[in-house]
Amino acid sequence: MTHSLRKPLGRYAVLISGSGTNLQSLIDANERGEITGEICVVVSSRADAFGLERAKRHHIPTAVINHREYSTREEHDAALQAILETYQPDLVVLAGFMRVLTPAFTAYYGDRLFNIHPSLLPAYRGLHTHQRVLEAGERKHGCTVHFTTAELDGGPIIAQARVPVLPTDTESTLAARVQKMEHPLYTYCVHLFMAGRLRLDTKSGTVLLDNRPLIHGELDMEWPST
Ligand code: GRF
Repeated sequence: MTHSLRKPLGRYAVLISGSGTNLQSLIDANERGEITGEICVVVSSRADAFGLERAKRHHIPTAVINHREYSTREEHDAALQAILETYQPDLVVLAGFMRVLTPAFTAYYGDRLFNIHPSLLPAYRGLHTHQRVLEAGERKHGCTVHFTTAELDGGPIIAQARVPVLPTDTESTLAARVQKMEHPLYTYCVHLFMAGRLRLDTKSGTVLLDNRPLIHGELDMEWPST
């Protein structure tokens, strides 16, 4: 007998620090009915993040959590968790959230915490990925959606999108190409999780799709060739 799939979920939270184009693409996908469930809250680490405006325009509750108001990372993350728990999210989506989270936080949300990183992990963890890719003379670049552990840009990989690096590229043209792929990739991964089709077996660290191990690369996306 096959296992029945987990029932569709209801609510997800999005954590941001900046412009929020990934947030916008999730909002748009929600409004088109492409994601089961709704965004219950947007939390920003900065009061001036444009993503907060995007959320307000769509009547999504917002909160700001300023790390300067907390003396330790543990206190900051406990306060963040307290905000999130008032909304009881089924999934927490990091979308340009520029804070490294504590092991206690990542353990609490371990099997329901997504991140998107602008590189083909495990290559180019950390900041300034586009510039570093250009300096290294890479021919391929991209982005990765992964479950999140306490390790910087670490955790089981769900899906990647690849883009070419062109000889004429600057940091901003390359970043724009990667972002074009981030949006559909993240939306699709959030959709699969919220539909109850994607999950993490925390004991083994295996990503499961429809109750069987995800095949390496099966959710990946490629830049359309001309
Ligand atoms: C994206 O490039 C994402 O990969 C990284 O932060 C950026 C957020 O961009 N983690 P935006 O705020 O969604 O436009």
